[in-house]
Amino acid sequence: MKTTTLLLSLAAAVITSAQDDSSYYNETSAPFHLIVTSEDGRVNDTLSACHIGAAIESLCRSNGNYGSSPTPLQAASFNFNTSIYAEEPVSGLGVGGILTYVLETSYGGVPSSASFSYNPISNLALPILSPGDSDAQIMAFDTQDDLAIQSYTYVDNTATWSNYYRWYTCDTSYSSYRYNALAWGLGASKPDNPSCVAVNVTRVFL
Ligand SMILES: *[C@@H]1O[C@H](CO)[C@@H](O)[C@H](O)[C@H]1NC(C)=O
Ligand SMILES: *[C@@H]1O[C@H](CO)[C@@H](O)[C@H](O)[C@H]1NC(C)=O
Ligand SMILES: *[C@@H]1O[C@H](CO)[C@@H](O)[C@H](O)[C@H]1NC(C)=O
Ligand SMILES: *[C@@H]1O[C@H](CO)[C@@H](O)[C@H](O)[C@H]1NC(C)=O
Repeated sequence: MKTTTLLLSLAAAVITSAQDDSSYYNETSAPFHLIVTSEDGRVNDTLSACHIGAAIESLCRSNGNYGSSPTPLQAASFNFNTSIYAEEPVSGLGVGGILTYVLETSYGGVPSSASFSYNPISNLALPILSPGDSDAQIMAFDTQDDLAIQSYTYVDNTATWSNYYRWYTCDTSYSSYRYNALAWGLGASKPDNPSCVAVNVTRVFL
């Protein structure tokens, strides 16, 4: 009985997320490319959408030259969806929203968004594009157009909001696909994957 209820509610969730107008993050931005740059200039590339399964993609480097990727790849065109109800936690940090992408298929465009895929034995999360927005990771662009994740910490009973920039490009694998792709560091310590290079992720409007 419980299982049936769960399955029904899952089905309802899928249907709900497929309807654009019921989505909270329904206000979309102009299209942009995402540029990844490392401090030493070793990484200076755009991000592409690389196939890793049915209708799912990782955010691979356009010239990653690693694993399953034939390079160079065309830079992907992204959008940032926000809500009329969303507000900046602190002025200057940016409004929370979701990174979106339209997957072109023979049935038309499929609105997709980036969510994090976690692996219990790694301190990295992989941003993955998949249809809908139900699991989307909330992110923000700061005043310099750098992509951040916002969180708060409690200091003396006061919540203090900050932007975090824990992006890396790393040699990654997802099922049988391997790409040099964007990853997020879980916590402040160094990634356990030695191929990772710290990067900033910046949007450049088309
Ligand atoms: C982003 O917003 C546009 C415009 O409202 C909408 O068509 C699209 O479905 C949204 N994308 C996602 C993944 O929700
Ligand atoms: C998004 O949804 C809100 C209601 O929740 C509505 O007021 C607004 O017009 C919608 N925006 C778009 C672009 O559809
Ligand atoms: C990201 O940008 C900030 C300031 O814009 C800079 O201080 C920092 O070194 C940059 N990080 C990387 C990895 O390039
Ligand atoms: C990245 O490359 C572009 C040219 O493609 C150049 O204009 C820019 O200065 C480079 N940025 C860094 C941080 O090396």
